[in-house]
This record gives sequence, C-alpha cells and structure tokens, in this order.
Amino acid sequence: SQNPLVIFTPSGKRGRFPVGTPVLTAARQLGVDLDSVCGGRGICSKCQVTPSVGEYPKHGVTVSADALSEWNAVEQRYKDKRGLIDGRRLGCQATVQADVVIDVPPESQVHRQVVRKRAEARDIVLNAAVRLYYVEVEEPDMHKPSGDLERLKSALQKQWGLEKISIDPALLRTLQPTLRKGNWTLTVAAHKTHQSDTVEITRIWPGYFDGPIYGLAVDLGSTTIAAHLCDLKTGEVVASSGIMNPQIRFGEDLMSRVSYAMMNKGGDLEMTRAVRDGMRALFDQIAKEGEIDKDLILDATFVCNPVMHHLFLGIDPYELGQAPFALALNTSLSLKASDLDLGLHQGARVYVLPCIAGHVGADAAAVALSESPNTSEDLVLLVDVGTNAEIILGNKDRVLACSSPTGPAFEGAQISSGQRAAPGAIERVEIDPVTKEPRFRVIGSDLWSDEDGFDRAIATTGITGICGSGIIEVLAEMRLAGLLDASGLIGSAEQTGSARCIPDGRTHSYLLWDGSADGGPVITVTNPDVRAIQMAKAALYSGARLLMDKLEVETVDRIVLAGAFGAHISAKHAMVLGMIPDCPLDKVTSAGNAAGTGARIALLNIDARADIEKTVGEIEKIETAVEPRFQEHFVNASAMPNAVEPFPILKT
Ligand code: FES
Repeated sequence: SQNPLVIFTPSGKRGRFPVGTPVLTAARQLGVDLDSVCGGRGICSKCQVTPSVGEYPKHGVTVSADALSEWNAVEQRYKDKRGLIDGRRLGCQATVQADVVIDVPPESQVHRQVVRKRAEARDIVLNAAVRLYYVEVEEPDMHKPSGDLERLKSALQKQWGLEKISIDPALLRTLQPTLRKGNWTLTVAAHKTHQSDTVEITRIWPGYFDGPIYGLAVDLGSTTIAAHLCDLKTGEVVASSGIMNPQIRFGEDLMSRVSYAMMNKGGDLEMTRAVRDGMRALFDQIAKEGEIDKDLILDATFVCNPVMHHLFLGIDPYELGQAPFALALNTSLSLKASDLDLGLHQGARVYVLPCIAGHVGADAAAVALSESPNTSEDLVLLVDVGTNAEIILGNKDRVLACSSPTGPAFEGAQISSGQRAAPGAIERVEIDPVTKEPRFRVIGSDLWSDEDGFDRAIATTGITGICGSGIIEVLAEMRLAGLLDASGLIGSAEQTGSARCIPDGRTHSYLLWDGSADGGPVITVTNPDVRAIQMAKAALYSGARLLMDKLEVETVDRIVLAGAFGAHISAKHAMVLGMIPDCPLDKVTSAGNAAGTGARIALLNIDARADIEKTVGEIEKIETAVEPRFQEHFVNASAMPNAVEPFPILKT
C-alpha cells in the first residue's frame, strides 16, 4: 500500500513518507519552514508542531488520532521537564504513522512574518544574519589526529549542512575549553551575509544555549540617535531608545559640522569619537531598558545621512561639502562592531546600508527599503523631512531621488518662538476664519486652549514655544483666515480686522499667545518666521517638482511623509502652504520613522540587504544644485501655495 500522506499547513506543502519518518525530516524534505536549533535532539523545542485529527475534505484525507507515533522517551522527558502546550508535539521526535495534517505554528517558523500595521509598506519576513546551531562534536582520537576546530566544522557540515565555515580568530582561544566544558557539545552563533556563502562562527557556548540573541537597528541622525533592540528569533522590538547626537556641540546642522571638520585639524576625528561615545552609551542604556545581557547583541544595522555616515565610519566629510559632492563609498559595508569601537561583544557584526548619492544617504535608502517604491503600482512620492529633505519619487518602472536643503526651520529653528518638539511646544493650531481668534494644543496635553481644564493640564509643561508642526499649522490657518497673503505678508489690524495683527518694524506680527501676565513667553508669528518657512517649503516642493519633471508627470498618486516631523504635520496644512504637490488628502499618509523601520528590516532579513543594494543601484540620482529648473520652481514655490501651479484639491 501507499506511504502515508503528510500535509503541512499553512504552507500546503505535501508528500508521502514511509511510516516512521520524523515530522522534522519530512518538513525538511518538502522545504517546509520548521525551525530547529538542536538538530533534532529533543532539546530546543523549536520544532513544535500541532497535528490535527478529523476529516479534511479540502485535503482529501481523514486523520486518525494515532497518525503520529506515541510519545517516545525523549519527547516525554521534554514535556515532563519543560512542559509543552496541549496538542503540541516535537517535530523531531514524533514520527509519521498514517495520513496526517500538521500545522506549523508561527513561532516554529524560521522565516516567520513580523507583523506591520500598514498595508502598503513592505512586510518583514525573518531571515536574520545570525543563527544558533547546536552540535555534537566528535572527541579527539590519537589514532585519527585532527584539530578540535576541524571536527567542529565537520560536525556543522554533517549535522547542519553548512558547507563553507570560517571562525572569528578571537574564538580560537576559547574553543578547546568550551568544547570540553560542554562535554563535546556546543552551540555556535553563525553569521552569514548575503554577499558570501561562507558562514562565520562569531560566538560559542558550551552545551545547549537557548538564546535569545539580539540585534540593533540604529538610525543615526544629525540631531538624535535612535535604536531598536530586536530579538533576532522573533523579530520583536524588545526596547527602543534614543539620545541626542553628541556631535551637536560641533554644529547644529550638517553643514556646520562639515565646516568644523574643515576649519579644525582633527575635527572630523573628534566628531567620530563623539558619535561613537554616544553610541556606546546608547547601547548600554538600551540593554538596560530591555533587561538583557548586552553581550547577546550579535548584529547591528546602521542608517544615516552621508555626512553622519562618513563621520561614523571615521571618514573626513570634506568632499561632501562641495561640488561634485563625492561620497568616499556608496556601497554597503559589513564590518565587525569592534572595528567601530562600539563596545559590543567581539562577535557582533555590523551592516551599514548603502548611500544613494552625496546628499541622499543610507537613511533615504532605508526609507526606500521600508516603503518599497520600486514595487509600487502607483506613483508614490516619499518625503523624509529633516534639515535636508530626502525625496524619492517612483513606481515599479522607475525610481528617482534627490535631496533638497530645507534648513532647520521645520525643526523649529530660525523661528522666533520656535523650539524642538517637546512638552510645552504648541503643535496644533486652529484659527477661526471669522473672529481670527486662535485655539491651540501643546505637546503633553490632550486639551485645546479653549477647553475647560487646559490651564491645569499644562501646569507642568507651561507654554514654551512652537514646534515645527505647530508653525506649519499656524501659517496655514493664518492663510485660510486671510491673515496672511500668498506672498507671505501678514496683514495689518485694519486689513484683517484682527487686533492680534500688531505692527512689528515695517511689517506685522500675529499674536498667538501672550503669557507675560504669568511671566510666560509672548508667542508671535513674525514675518521673518514666515520667510524661513517659505524658504524651507519652497526647497522641499521644488525638489519634488524637479523629480516630477524628470518623470514628465503633473501629479502623483500618493504621498508618504516619513520622519518624526512627517508624522506630525497634517496633510491639509502642508498642502495649503504648498509644501507638497497637489494630491487627494486621503492619499497623503505618514510612515512614521521609515528610516528606522528600514534599518529594522535590514537587521531581520539579509535578503532585504541584497534588495536595497540592488534598488540603490537602480535609483536615478538627481543633483538639485545643478538643475536649472530647480531655481525656477523655487521662486514659484515661495508663494503660498504657489505662484503658478494650480492646486485643484485645495479648491474642493
Ligand atoms: Fe530541537 Fe526538536 S529540533 S527539539
């Protein structure tokens, strides 16, 4: 008679196997994703499966209660000692007896999917660079002399099918005692890259080591350094943490740091040291927050803009400060964490994403990885707003990228009452179009300024200033209320009918908040404030518009705003000011920290590293500085929303 039929769910893979075949073996032969760290020895329990019983008309089988073997001693011992969820079996111990349907639960899949909330973004499928393998190594034998390392390698070959194996030389010192301590068994962490078929042993433990092991996804920004600590087995974020970039003391923005390096001998190295010191502190902090042993962090990915990228790697950013803005390298880098002095375990490895161009960094590459414009059916405009806006436009046919010098105004700098987004900062504003009276909300409180309890709610934060999203809203609301004209002039009290428009030099200011009675600040919107935002938004718009010219399109299908700022601005207000091109408002979404997400994807899946390298190679780079039309767009885009472009959406 025929061999029993084995059907795996959810993959649907099926095949016939002789009675007595272990489920793990059947899974391997069918290419079913079923995990194992101990190699089928009943130790790790990563191979857990759930057999079903009953009628399966869809699959054409009836499964009897004894379709899998009785519990053997190994499986029973595991259950007694460590426990197993009801209905679960160890796939390496249970064998096939009759037709059976076997479910592989998500936690038993190596390449499981990490859940992301946004439908349009790329899925994260686990395929981390580092994996653990438990092996039993042959003991040395005087009659067949061979090294412990060679016997370890052949055990990995035989038991795990790993072909090309190298070892971190630093481990050679501990290999012999570890093997003996583990009584000729050990667990190795093996690191593989997408660039080579050799796996490298980066850490060893005597006997069976259960993990978990961790990775860091780091978004190195000019203002803040943010990191996610991820469990490499589950993909879960265990802790997220951030610090200010200690390089700030050398200059607030990128160009001032480049000039610090130019003006001061050794200045670049000072900044390299500062950022690495900061990273070490951050990694200590995040390990503490995640309550994990920092030495179990064995992989890390980094995304950053080109200047940060060079300074992090210890490269003088001099060339990035002048045309033709040549990068020292635009490919990715795989390094040891110890090469960068990051204070991580000797076995930790580092992957730095590739930069796109001299002004478009690995952070933009990470946004592209997270948002996958290169697979999009519709034409998507991705904007990551910082002191430089990094702009990507494209779909599955073509992807273009550029950066545009927006300056720090969107972060609240250069604004008279501007401040970073922090408790006490005004972040939302509405102005009544009839009375011209404002109401607003500050970070740290849910209440609007005209709601009962507002004073109590902000008693601790106070009202301290206005942040980037707040300034966008107040300007857009002023524009809608007729307080501000298209050219950016604030009207007088007579012109606008609002006593809040007060003379200020030769122009006028709009009084948003007067806290002077309580010793607080007087928050006004001045004409220089308007000017700073006009410059920034014109730069942003012109960059986007330039890419649209290149693709010869007049509109885009959707817009994704990335970055912290992008997460906070409202689509309507951004469009009233003409920051972004005309587009249905429900097609403007925020991707949150897409650069950080891209770093996390690259951390959790090495195929994604190969993908982004390929994508970056295919992206067409546009240098705004040498494009004659950029200037023309810029002049038109200084008006709000624009001197020449129609914004039909705003009319509706
Ligand atoms: Fe480790 Fe089954 S493979 S317990």
